[in-house]
Amino acid sequence: MSKIVLITGASSGIGKRTALLLAENGYVVYAGTRDPSRLNDIKNKNLYVLALDITQTESIITAIKKITQLHKKIDILINNAGYGLVSTVEEVNEEEMYAQFNVNVFGLLRVTKAVIPLMRENRWGVIINISSFLGKIGLPLLTFYNSSKYAVEGITDSLRYELRDFNIRVHSVMPGFFNTNFAKDNLRINSQTFNENSPYAELVSRLAPTIVEQINGGNDASEAAALILDMIRDENSPARVTVGDKASKFIPMRRELSDEDFERRVREYYNLNG
Ligand SMILES: NC(=O)c1ccc[n+]([C@@H]2O[C@H](COP(=O)([O-])OP(=O)(O)OC[C@H]3O[C@@H](n4cnc5c(N)ncnc54)[C@H](OP(=O)(O)O)[C@@H]3O)[C@@H](O)[C@H]2O)c1
Repeated sequence: MSKIVLITGASSGIGKRTALLLAENGYVVYAGTRDPSRLNDIKNKNLYVLALDITQTESIITAIKKITQLHKKIDILINNAGYGLVSTVEEVNEEEMYAQFNVNVFGLLRVTKAVIPLMRENRWGVIINISSFLGKIGLPLLTFYNSSKYAVEGITDSLRYELRDFNIRVHSVMPGFFNTNFAKDNLRINSQTFNENSPYAELVSRLAPTIVEQINGGNDASEAAALILDMIRDENSPARVTVGDKASKFIPMRRELSDEDFERRVREYYNLNG
C-alpha cells in the first residue's frame, strides 16, 4: 500500500521539489499550501494540492480530514513551511516577533500535534522537520529566525524520545543556503532596521546583501529533496542531517571549535569585525 505524505509550504522551493520527487517515486503526496492556485501547473497522478495555513488550527483539521477520509492515515509528515524575519532585537515589533514563531515553531507544532495520533494508531510514522544550518549557528539581524530554528532543533530532539515507542521516527534537516524563493518572497524585513538612520545601518549594509547573494547563489532544491527521499527510505537515518555547501562548511566547524573560536571564524567570513 502506498505511503501517504503531508508536506507543508509546498508551493515553492524545497517543499515543491520534495512533493514532486516523492510523487514520482510512488508516494501519495498531499502538498499543503496557503495558495493552491500556485500549484496549478503540477500534473502528477500521485500529487494532490491541499489548502493549508499552518497558523490556523481549523485549516489544519480540515486538511487532515480530507486526507483521512480517503486514506485513514498519514505516514510521513514533512514540516517545511517557514520564513525569515530580518530585524535587530532593538527594532523589532511585537507582531513581527510573534509571527515568526507562529509560523516556524507553533505552526510546525500545530501540524505535528494533529498528525501524531494517526501515526500512533498506525504504529508507524516519519516526521521530518526542515530546520536550517542557522538552527545551530547565530547571525546578527537573524536572531528571530535563528531562535525559531534552534527551537525546531529542540523539538526534534524531544519528540524523538516521546514518539520512539510508537515506532515514529523524527528527524531534522539543516539546509545551508538554497536558491529557492526564500530571499525573494520569504525574507521579511523590519523597516526600522533597514532605514538608513538605524544605528545598525552599517551592519545591515555589510551583511544583508551578502546573505541575499548567498541564498540566491545557493544549492538547488532538488538536492534537499533527494536527501529527504533517502531519509524516508532509510529506517536508520541519523537524527539530523545537513545538506548544501554552507551547512557542510559550518556545522562540522561548529562542532569542532570552541564557541569563541567559531565566532571568530564567522566574524571573519561575514566581515563582522566592524
Ligand atoms: N532557502 C534557504 O536558503 C534555506 C536555508 C535553510 C533553511 N531553509 C528552510 O527551508 C524551508 C523551505 O524554504 P525554501 O527555501 O524552500 O523557501 P520558499 O521557496 O520561499 O518556500 C517557503 C515555503 O514556506 C511557506 N511559508 C512562507 N511563509 C509562510 C507563512 N507566513 N505562513 C505559512 N507558510 C509560509 C510557503 O508556503 P505556501 O506559500 O505554499 O503556503 C513557502 O512555500 C523553510 O522552512 C526555510 O526556513 C531555507
